Amino acid sequence: MDLPDYYSEGALPLADILSSLSYALDLTSGYSSGHAQRTCLIGLRLASVLGLPQYNVNSLYHALLMKDAGCSSNSARMAEIFGTDDIQVKRSMRTANWSNTLEAMRTAAANVLPGGSAIARLKKLIEMTSHREEISDGLTETRCDRGAQIALQIGLGEDAALVVRHLDEHWDGHGSPYHLKGDAIPLLARIACLAQTMDVFYVAHGVDAAYEVIMRRCGTWFDPELVRAAARFKSDYKFWGSLATAHTEMLSNLEMRNALDDASEERIDAICSAFAGIVDAKSPFTAEHSSRVRDYAVQIGQQMGIMGRRLTLLRRAAQLHDLGKLGVPNSILDKPGKPTPEEWAVIREHPRNSFLILARIRGFDRLAEIAGAHHERLDGNGYHRGIGASELDLDMRILAAADVFDALSAKRPYRDALPLQTVYEIMDKDAGAALDPDCISALKFVYPAQVPQPSKEDCVPLAA
Ligand SMILES: [Fe+2]
Ligand SMILES: [Fe+2]
Repeated sequence: MDLPDYYSEGALPLADILSSLSYALDLTSGYSSGHAQRTCLIGLRLASVLGLPQYNVNSLYHALLMKDAGCSSNSARMAEIFGTDDIQVKRSMRTANWSNTLEAMRTAAANVLPGGSAIARLKKLIEMTSHREEISDGLTETRCDRGAQIALQIGLGEDAALVVRHLDEHWDGHGSPYHLKGDAIPLLARIACLAQTMDVFYVAHGVDAAYEVIMRRCGTWFDPELVRAAARFKSDYKFWGSLATAHTEMLSNLEMRNALDDASEERIDAICSAFAGIVDAKSPFTAEHSSRVRDYAVQIGQQMGIMGRRLTLLRRAAQLHDLGKLGVPNSILDKPGKPTPEEWAVIREHPRNSFLILARIRGFDRLAEIAGAHHERLDGNGYHRGIGASELDLDMRILAAADVFDALSAKRPYRDALPLQTVYEIMDKDAGAALDPDCISALKFVYPAQVPQPSKEDCVPLAA
């Protein structure tokens, strides 16, 4: 049987994949959409002014797209310490001079326990002072080290990993987490720090504000030589103007992209595993969820006769199905009670975000469709589109069953893991109306609720 086009294998540029997935990292790190791409373009412009060799430019290119890969790993802790939405806290930190103690305190005070009474907020703030070191260095160390590990995991090389690890070090040694100073900070990391700050202020207040902040922090946050290099393209209005609207096209049109790798199948698998890990790191209650759903979906698929390229796409869709959860604050994800209607509205957006991020990647269209449909139900009562049986194909139904199976059989914030017998009783109630009964049967075959006990007749006496 001929497979439809979307199952065909074809070379995918690594840079295209990373640049599209960088939108998922923007979501969880509190940056505006497209931040990593714009930072990449600003960093490359600096590299060009400095005349850096091509191997440095390649490392910088990849590192800037993946610089926030570790951002989800401190989200749960940040939400706990601040008693609020971690994404909002990160967003307000972006424009603060957090290496200035007074400004850091002011930013913390503005964000802590929003909606709480004055006394509760003050108590929380005092409590936070006992975590001062963890907030200033520990959380950054977690993020930077995890991000660097991920860069290595997907084969970006040691130089790119160093950029991610030292992204927040400052020229005067008051950065974080290792307090490196001056030339001890790798050059590419100094460029990354400058470029990301310029983008934040450029998006918030325009080009002049971006230059005003780097002049003000010249010699404290930033290497003065790099600030001088940045000044050389301040008046390039074409560059700054197109950065606002067309960064994706600019990145994909860069001549140098042709010099970068196409992603091998092994590399794509490594990237999918890495991003599954990034999603799972966001909440202690969803740790390993994406990798377990991958295993369940593959097992159901194989049981139902899916194989080859189609099974590969199903596996990758299962790994990345919750990518959009990176945009859901941990104050909602880790909430012990039931979400409010407003919180539900945020949760219901995550499959749409999974779809939108994955659909950006050329050749990932089919994968995006499967992943984006994981909360749809046969009776049309699912989300985010509310489509029904006639639009849900087998791969989508398999992923939905695998996701529900894990949601029920794993421990949740508000209850322990359920025994398989109970899991199947609940799934059987939904069979036909919401979930595909054939997928549930395949699950029961692969993971029987009770392992049959051997009868006496089956037992063969051990040889003496
Ligand atoms: Fe989901
Ligand atoms: Fe899920």
